[in-house]
Amino acid sequence: MITFRTRLDRYLSQQLEIPRGNMRLILAQGRVMVNGEVAKSIHQVVDKFSRVEFDGRLLSADAPRYIMLNKPKGVVSATRDDHHTTVIDLLPGNNNDDLHLVGRLDFNTTGLVLLTNDGHWSRRLTQPETKVPKHYRVWLERPVTDDYIEAFANGIYFAYEGVTTRPASLKIISPFEVKVVLEEGRYHQIKRMFGHFNNKVVDLHREAIGDLTLDSSLPQGRSRSLTAAEVQRLTISVC
Ligand code: URA
Repeated sequence: MITFRTRLDRYLSQQLEIPRGNMRLILAQGRVMVNGEVAKSIHQVVDKFSRVEFDGRLLSADAPRYIMLNKPKGVVSATRDDHHTTVIDLLPGNNNDDLHLVGRLDFNTTGLVLLTNDGHWSRRLTQPETKVPKHYRVWLERPVTDDYIEAFANGIYFAYEGVTTRPASLKIISPFEVKVVLEEGRYHQIKRMFGHFNNKVVDLHREAIGDLTLDSSLPQGRSRSLTAAEVQRLTISVC
């Protein structure tokens, strides 16, 4: 974290342990971003509110935080809400204003939610091109038949957006329970995909994002920080 106002070249040289004399070249190569814009001048002043990135790696801002939460039912995937408990309200401590969600779950969906203050990381995980698989377990009102498997694999047409969903995998566990893996996250996507068969989703639970699985020992409403290895693994899986 930058504790005072300082020139960009001085700050970078300290952070990267590279001589200040090299900074003009590094800036000319477009490798440094300040607050989302490519930095051009070594004279630019940065302070503790500046977000400085070098080769896509966040250097400044408060220490990056990466959290997994086991979301219960009846909690809003938002940072603020006037009427309901939010995922942020469930986190310990009061210093959580800098966090945002890496993808949302519906009000009554349970399971794995990721939170971070690292916008670069969350953007990479959520941008449509990265196709990070999201693993869900779904309980249904009516029995599921084998033809669902092919329909999910072929994609289902959503008339409202005029799009066909990306190929999704569906595995039948029992007539009323399936596992679904999606590589996108459209509004109420799973409910709408089963809606295509007039089959209502009774319960929905996210088990994993990429190869990060929700801890089975983490009670609903509780959270923990990701390890550096987990953060790294998820980052690599979307490269
Ligand atoms: N699909 C849904 O319908 N709801 C969720 O919360 C997640 C995926």
